[in-house]
Amino acid sequence: MTHKMNRRALIKGIAAAAVAVPVAGIAGGTNALAATASSGATASGSLAFDPDAYTEITTTISTDDGDKEVTYHFWSAITYVTDPVDETYQSLTVSVPVSIDGTAVDATDAPILVSNSIGGYLPSSVSTNTGVSSSRAQLAIAAGYVAVEPGARGRTLVDSSGDYYGTAPAAIVDLKAAIRYVRYNAGTVPGDTDKIVTAGTSAGGALSALLGASGGSSLYDDYLSALGAADADDVVYATGAWCPITDLENADGAYEWNWGTNTLSSGEEVDQDVSADLTALFETYQSGLGLTADDYGTITADNLDDYLLATYLEPAATSYLADLSDDDRTTYLSSNTFITWDGSSATFSWSDYLDHVGSRGKDAPAFDAFDLSAGENNEFGVDTTEARHFTDYSLANDTSGTGGTSLDSDIPGKLDMMNPMYFIGESNDDRAKYWWIRTGTKDTDTALTIVGNLALSLENLGDDVNALMYWDAAHGADEDPGDFITWIGDVTGYTG
Ligand code: DHB
Repeated sequence: MTHKMNRRALIKGIAAAAVAVPVAGIAGGTNALAATASSGATASGSLAFDPDAYTEITTTISTDDGDKEVTYHFWSAITYVTDPVDETYQSLTVSVPVSIDGTAVDATDAPILVSNSIGGYLPSSVSTNTGVSSSRAQLAIAAGYVAVEPGARGRTLVDSSGDYYGTAPAAIVDLKAAIRYVRYNAGTVPGDTDKIVTAGTSAGGALSALLGASGGSSLYDDYLSALGAADADDVVYATGAWCPITDLENADGAYEWNWGTNTLSSGEEVDQDVSADLTALFETYQSGLGLTADDYGTITADNLDDYLLATYLEPAATSYLADLSDDDRTTYLSSNTFITWDGSSATFSWSDYLDHVGSRGKDAPAFDAFDLSAGENNEFGVDTTEARHFTDYSLANDTSGTGGTSLDSDIPGKLDMMNPMYFIGESNDDRAKYWWIRTGTKDTDTALTIVGNLALSLENLGDDVNALMYWDAAHGADEDPGDFITWIGDVTGYTG
């Protein structure tokens, strides 16, 4: 079976694929598809949400306010495009609370949290989910919001002809198609489609940030039309992004600027010439951003360390220490003497902070590996090519033997489509205007500058940005999930 077959037709026992049989008789349900004989596996069908196709589930969800018994309506995997490439990934679930601790709730006008569970730019499926899945989505329904959990194609998917069908920009196209599906069904999908909030962590955080930054862009239209995405826009209202692995074409330089002097966990240094070259590229990139901050003026590679210290790192340590008991604080400070604690706030130097973090998580270059071994090389694969370079520097230093002399012509456009910084740089008016951005101070999966620049570039555009770092937290941390749910209520004005 290939992914291009009409899976629903197969489920119904009808041979699709090589000899496609018209199945126009399959109608009704949430996603009836009708394959046409003439075009092989092509399918087209209704994207109308069936408001009655739910199951009712009662579950206990633990929140900052204690356990809540939540009864909700659950719509299992709904294909969100009419011409899916692979329904296993191109489907979403919907969870709508109807009562919380025995009190009826009406989510008709509630914010809609679209929370993805994508990691590593890998495929993410909700097709076998039997209820609300992620803890973030659970907290959303426990607060009376609607939770949509979309799947999306990812970089490792390969079909029977050897074609990579989940590489860039597949994941963002799929997530946009999911947003369009929800908005297209405004009024039948419960919730307020003017108050769609996206969320995700790591690669999923990058994609959430990209949904927020790129809303309404026409760059993806051809891809969306090819899938038969719903005829609605993909603007989102607010965005949550945890440790986003983004700005990929600038991330190698950022990584060296940030972690370049730290050794690998083996104790070895990375190639210091490579690290220095990439750091120099980052210096040019950083000044080119032209970002400004109060008390600093333009943020360049020269004052970025001070800016990050004062804006994120010292406040993170301060709030961590303030929350400790006196005894625990004393213990922590005596084993971390680089921190000066004046009784209410923590100060330290950038280089002491780097020593404190210890080893770097990735070799140099971190993202566009010379031998094409990084996940991001695969993310920029195409057709039957599993992995490609996406920076001039790594192409010039290729050790895979497949590099070529210039980046493939489709790469620059795909980099734009994958990078929220591109849309922020264009001051996209249709972007989300409310942002919740988090990362851990021991997250060495990417540079801290990624979050710093994402947040500051949005602040410079005038957006409402709630950004902070979690002290000593590693990749993937979310230490204030309940506060995010409260923030959704604050920025949407929804009080239930
Ligand atoms: C993720 C982590 C990485 O280090 C990376 O390069 C890409 C994605 C992740 O956890 O999703």
